[in-house]
Amino acid sequence: MIAAVDSARIAYDDIGHGEPVVFLHAFPLNRTMWAPQTSALAAEWRCLTIDTRGFGESPSSAPFTMDRYADDIVAILDHAGIDRATVVGLSMGGYVAFALWRRAPQRVRALVLADTRAGADSPETIERRRALIAVARSEGVLAVADRQLVGLLGKTTRERRPEVEATARTIAESATVDGIVGALEAMIARPDSTATLGTISVPTLFIAGEEDVITPPKDARAMNDAVLGSRLEILARAGHLSNLEAPAAFTAVLSEFLRDSTLRLHGIVLH
Ligand code: MLT
Repeated sequence: MIAAVDSARIAYDDIGHGEPVVFLHAFPLNRTMWAPQTSALAAEWRCLTIDTRGFGESPSSAPFTMDRYADDIVAILDHAGIDRATVVGLSMGGYVAFALWRRAPQRVRALVLADTRAGADSPETIERRRALIAVARSEGVLAVADRQLVGLLGKTTRERRPEVEATARTIAESATVDGIVGALEAMIARPDSTATLGTISVPTLFIAGEEDVITPPKDARAMNDAVLGSRLEILARAGHLSNLEAPAAFTAVLSEFLRDSTLRLHGIVLH
């Protein structure tokens, strides 16, 4: 489905029935990275996967900022007739989820923040992103995918699961140069969300791949300590793209959290 949002067009899938769950993808991937989760969860949950501007089937369209990306999510919720949803964001999807929480907390029923970080970019990261912008412009999308994939996947996946690398590569290679450059600039400019953690008042689950070298588990532990009543799950033998690298384990912890947080919302507490 394609929704017209201001001057942009945002692509999304809306499958299944039940309480709504919105999935926000990593950089430089797109909504198809969530296939292992939505195929398993759609029998019980209404799953919306959304392409950030310039990725997947969403054409590239300025402005590119975390706030604009978050406003696009609100527009999709409006388009789909959804008042509140659980928001699942992985890495860049987590940065968008923080912005969404700041701008429209009333639309967020619960949060799942996977392989992401609250802190802003360090000077070294900004330098690395600027170099990647130059690579995108001069060498194109395939060169960006080559450089990114090394860090995105954990050691175990790289050594033992070439099919996961192939899937991630195919998804990453479908990005556009404008989308990549826009997202890198949006990530560089994003604010520090550390103070936002203390404002989160909905059920929250952090997930981290134990082999994630981009946003290591210690970042997830620090975020978990800063959010009242949140939970943390570390997934074995998974790297940064933990939902693709350990799909069954990721889906299991997500599914348990969705059930638990829904029961809590209705005032039922399990012991
Ligand atoms: C992602 O997976 O979305 C990126 O690694 C995020 C980042 O580069 O900070």
